[in-house]
Amino acid sequence: MQQHLTNPIFKVLANIAEQTKTEAYVIGGFVRDLFLNRPSKDIDVVILGNGIDFAEKVGQQLKTKVAVFKNFGTAMLKYNDLEIEFVGARKESYRSDSRKPIVENGTLEDDQLRRDFTINALAISLNADNYGGLVDPFNGLADLENKFIRTPLDPEITFSDDPLRMMRAIRFATQLNFDIDEVALQAIKTQKERINIVSKERITDELNKIILAKTPSIGFKHLFDTGLLHLIFPQMANLYGVDIIKGKGHKDNFYHTLQVLDNICETTDDLWLRWAAILHDIAKPATKRFEEGHGWTFHGHEDKGARMVPQIFAQLKLPLNEKMKYVQKLVQLHLRPIVLAQEKVTDSAVRRLLFEAGEEIESLMLLCNADVTTKNEYKIKKYRNNFELVKQKLKDVEERDQLRNWQPPISGNDIMQTFGLDAGREVGLLKNAIREAILEGEITNSYEEAFTFMLEKAKQLGLNQVTK
Ligand code: CTP
Repeated sequence: MQQHLTNPIFKVLANIAEQTKTEAYVIGGFVRDLFLNRPSKDIDVVILGNGIDFAEKVGQQLKTKVAVFKNFGTAMLKYNDLEIEFVGARKESYRSDSRKPIVENGTLEDDQLRRDFTINALAISLNADNYGGLVDPFNGLADLENKFIRTPLDPEITFSDDPLRMMRAIRFATQLNFDIDEVALQAIKTQKERINIVSKERITDELNKIILAKTPSIGFKHLFDTGLLHLIFPQMANLYGVDIIKGKGHKDNFYHTLQVLDNICETTDDLWLRWAAILHDIAKPATKRFEEGHGWTFHGHEDKGARMVPQIFAQLKLPLNEKMKYVQKLVQLHLRPIVLAQEKVTDSAVRRLLFEAGEEIESLMLLCNADVTTKNEYKIKKYRNNFELVKQKLKDVEERDQLRNWQPPISGNDIMQTFGLDAGREVGLLKNAIREAILEGEITNSYEEAFTFMLEKAKQLGLNQVTK
């Protein structure tokens, strides 16, 4: 292992361990990531003794500031681009949100036993007698090789100590594409209710890490199968299931959504576009109807879905800002390019879509592409071809009409001044009429044509231009 400790900081730590006759080990995520060849900037060091004292000695030698967190018994310092955290070996669990003072003076093995997973309990010695040696009492290395998430202790105890670890197990399984030990999965099922004592922010942090993984469906399937999803995000769990009436079923919207999510992950790393994929059909259960002679319909699910977005964001403590608006807009518009692709792709329909989607048009097209989950090769081909056509038209129309972030050439103010009107119904009527005429291609997007058109319309309403 020695060859892995290339950074000079490890020699500094080793010297201080030697001088102070204190044992020190690199432990946790940094060691795991070394074996996974994932570069990591956070180094956790466990000290058999007082972690804060040790950190202060390191700080003196490096002439750098040490941040001390007395309540947690930890201290942190920065070294170039690394963040190094020191902690005394514990007999008690590493809770994610404990406010209690920690119990130190454990052995290294006590400390490793109280960590969340065997792959996170690997330690590398910084001590002279076995510098660079791996200390792995729970076979974490074998679990890394076998791609396996397992707890060092009985998982009932590990999860009960810190219920956030149930989410962490699923998050690591998703990020690393590992299996989770059956016993651990069972323990999550029995302890799932305890997730309610964890703060929403921490839960959502883990959820977002799942969503940012290469294949988020892995995590969502575990969340669903263990019952955690029903507790943390019931609207999504509610997508699951198929109703059959008169021999007609509809697709399972939970698995469809997961497919759309995995699909979009191939084209974007953007968390919010991924959220739009998760939420695009969220109102399908609420809008589901069986119509005689027609089958299953979900009329208006895009409107209702868009209306559900703020409440879901609030519930999950996601930001209620422009990110939320972005997701909302995509949910609202997600059917539009598909509908367009099914019909004749006219200029005016494309203009309308561009006008409404504005800057979000590319995201919307990615979402719609991802939304094609049929297994029918013929249909896939047809949709994809039509999308290409829509894209081409979008490009043409945009180049010609420049409708992105478009404002009609005549404003409400212009209208009020021209006809000496106060704000009111007539102003709205004229404004709409001008916009519609431009979007329909009856007039071009120019001030002159719009002004002439407005005068004609106004005449029909019995309005006269006031002379200045
Ligand atoms: N840990 C734990 N239980 C928790 C949180 C953390 O046992 N609920 C331990 C694990 O040994 C973990 C280490 O503390 O490796 C550091 O935790 P953290 O920095 O949160 O995670 P990492 O494992 O480093 O992984 P990531 O950076 O991907 O979150």
